[in-house]
Amino acid sequence: MMRMDADVAIIGGGVIGLACAYELASHGKRVVVLERDRPGSGAGYVAAGMLAPISEADAEDEPFIELALESCSLYPDWIQRIEADSGLGCGYRDEGSLLVALHRDHEVEWERLAGIQRRLGLESRRIDRAEVLEREPYLSPRVVSGLFVPGDKQVNPRRLTKALAAAIEARGGTVVGPLPPAPSPLAERGSLERATPAIEGRRCVGAAMGEVEVRAEATVICAGAWSAEVWPEGAGLLPMRPVKGQILRLRGEPLLNHVLRTPDVYLVPRVDGELVVGATTEEQGFDTSVKTWAVMDLLREAWRVLPGVAELEMAEAVAGLRPALRDHQPAIGRTAVDGLFVATGHYRHGIVLAPVTAKLLAGVLDGTARVPAAFDPIRLHSTLVNTSHLPLSVNGEGAGREVFP
Ligand code: GLY
Repeated sequence: MMRMDADVAIIGGGVIGLACAYELASHGKRVVVLERDRPGSGAGYVAAGMLAPISEADAEDEPFIELALESCSLYPDWIQRIEADSGLGCGYRDEGSLLVALHRDHEVEWERLAGIQRRLGLESRRIDRAEVLEREPYLSPRVVSGLFVPGDKQVNPRRLTKALAAAIEARGGTVVGPLPPAPSPLAERGSLERATPAIEGRRCVGAAMGEVEVRAEATVICAGAWSAEVWPEGAGLLPMRPVKGQILRLRGEPLLNHVLRTPDVYLVPRVDGELVVGATTEEQGFDTSVKTWAVMDLLREAWRVLPGVAELEMAEAVAGLRPALRDHQPAIGRTAVDGLFVATGHYRHGIVLAPVTAKLLAGVLDGTARVPAAFDPIRLHSTLVNTSHLPLSVNGEGAGREVFP
């Protein structure tokens, strides 16, 4: 048995757990992160890394957009600090997003989105075919117009989580994991011991994972889609479900300058020539198998807008699980158990929301921050939840207007 003392124990070493740990370690707290797989191997390992609250503004959900915009504004300084502390690059880029239309139906979709962006005061600009092709010369000649969103950015989530883990250690924190033998992110997860909160009486006194025991003043559950699996009795409700996303990584000659979207696919170019193509949105429980239909669909939609993808090397096809609460908003703050906190449920937005989540969580722990009601875990304790802002379920996507018990 290995025993450790800490100010804060973090359950889960995905991007949210690592971001929270880094923030706390930067404030001088003794932090231990418990991760049964490799740090950063959760949804963040699969994520494309788009920081695109404006392009994703179509839920018209103002508290969420405000939170995401605040997080984006924290990003440049946050990345600079992580890179300085870790000595590692995070692949942060700020060329903006280009939303392109291949036919009239796509144009109608982007006009609808542009209307929402205008109402919310977010910056985007309709551009004609000539400007689209000037910005992205390799696009299909079928492109008819586009919407340029200059405020969107991107980061490479795999680099970010690696740098975060190193930055935590540089700040005196500890990341425990992986347990030997190091599993692949696609390995059967059930075979490994999960980190769980240690409850004594009505209080959480730390966390344990296999042979490792951490005594801590505060414990934070950041276990993404697995958070409900480690949720203790008495902590309130956490109606969590995994939402599967399959994604491709292609490699070769750089073909794009911006993050590119059509209503059917997104393509994210990395500085090193990688091109991420995503993503499906599926209700399949904890299944992370990669299906041929998904590879076909994603490649076909990518090829329609960027024919050169046919010449790229197929480097990877992988599936991840987005952590979705019933209203698709994150839960950040106190639970009903003393000493136990939570930061999870970021659904499609874990990468973009990481810095603001860490800031809020650190503020809750030291009593200086108030979590907006939309993200307070207490809202989940009621079974009456307003989900009217969510899109109706399409192809099994989203909670729609269903209320999960
Ligand atoms: N954030 C993009 C996705 O979840 O597919």
